[in-house]
Amino acid sequence: MGQLVDRYQRKIDYLRISITDRCNLRCRYCMPPEGVDFIEHDQILSYEKIVRIVQTGAKLGIKKVRVTGGEPLVRKGAVDLIRMLKNISGIEEVALTTNGVLLAKYASQLVTAGLDRVNISLDTLQQDKFREITNFDQLEQVIEGIKSALEVGLTPVKINVVVMQSINDDEIFDFIALTRQLPVHVRFIEYMPAGSKESEQEKYYIGSKQLKKEIKREEKLLATQFQKGNGPAYYYQVSDSLGTIGFISPISNSFCSSCNRLRLTSTGDLRACLCNEQEINLRDKLKQGEAEVKRAFQLAVDSKAEKHSLSQGNFNKNMSQIGG
Ligand code: GTP
Ligand code: 5AD
Ligand code: SF4
Repeated sequence: MGQLVDRYQRKIDYLRISITDRCNLRCRYCMPPEGVDFIEHDQILSYEKIVRIVQTGAKLGIKKVRVTGGEPLVRKGAVDLIRMLKNISGIEEVALTTNGVLLAKYASQLVTAGLDRVNISLDTLQQDKFREITNFDQLEQVIEGIKSALEVGLTPVKINVVVMQSINDDEIFDFIALTRQLPVHVRFIEYMPAGSKESEQEKYYIGSKQLKKEIKREEKLLATQFQKGNGPAYYYQVSDSLGTIGFISPISNSFCSSCNRLRLTSTGDLRACLCNEQEINLRDKLKQGEAEVKRAFQLAVDSKAEKHSLSQGNFNKNMSQIGG
């Protein structure tokens, strides 16, 4: 089994795979309000090709894959893809990032297919605000999705909360309370300037440091055994909790120095970083044979920058197109 190591000695063993740019929600920070032109179906990489790419990646040392979107569960056959990915030799973990709307429907099928765990995006626990942020009335479905994930054992269940000034920063303690009710890991994420104008970034951004300071006024942040692993979050817990709270700080404390990931977009482009605009199209490489796909993986790894350039507004796509 090979190993992919970049110029900064980072071991790359995690591939994030976006399987669609479509979504059943319209989160304001992910898609611009005027909407986006969805990619035509014939431009979307087939599951068969995704599997071939991951088989090659696994030979090079990819051990973990995460299926993302848009919303991955809106693409037909997503459960079958999970099964195929889990059967690939060398792939030790298959995870999913979802908005949770369809999770209750698919949770047991997903676990049978071999899905290891799930991260669920949820920015508010209030119905009216859910509509304000996502443009849809689906909060109950997402809560049901979280409960189903716990019931079928898609654990640890992590909840991604993008913190936005004057939108959901008044709910931080409600999310903390949730970790006392359910064994979930709530991660507060700094707002990144993607799919939104820079002015919005200034309007909504709250740094993790400030957030922690506010939390500490009312709660003790205790050390936790919950693994940081290679993920981007730093975890704590509060007293009498079943779960933990984590902070993901891509802006104030970038986790680039321990980055372990590459991205595959829904059109089959290999992307070295969220901000790396240069992508390598693997559709063409697949036609040329496995050696070319391997070479493309190595090229992408070699092109990884030391740090992201988010603060320079270096984003040529929306989050829904890259997969978060
Ligand atoms: P775990 O391994 O479970 O911790 O998953 P993850 O955090 O890698 O994945 P998830 O899809 O839940 O992403 C959580 C947050 O981190 C989202 O806001 C992502 O946009 C952000 N994120 C994930 N990968 C990267 C990355 O490479 N760079 C930056 N800047 N942000 C990222
Ligand atoms: N800033 C921070 N996180 C974001 N996500 C999507 N857009 C942004 C943004 N602009 C998060 C979603 C999801 C994950 C894949 O990325 O909430 O949990
Ligand atoms: Fe959909 Fe996720 Fe984007 Fe929200 S953040 S619109 S749920 S892809």
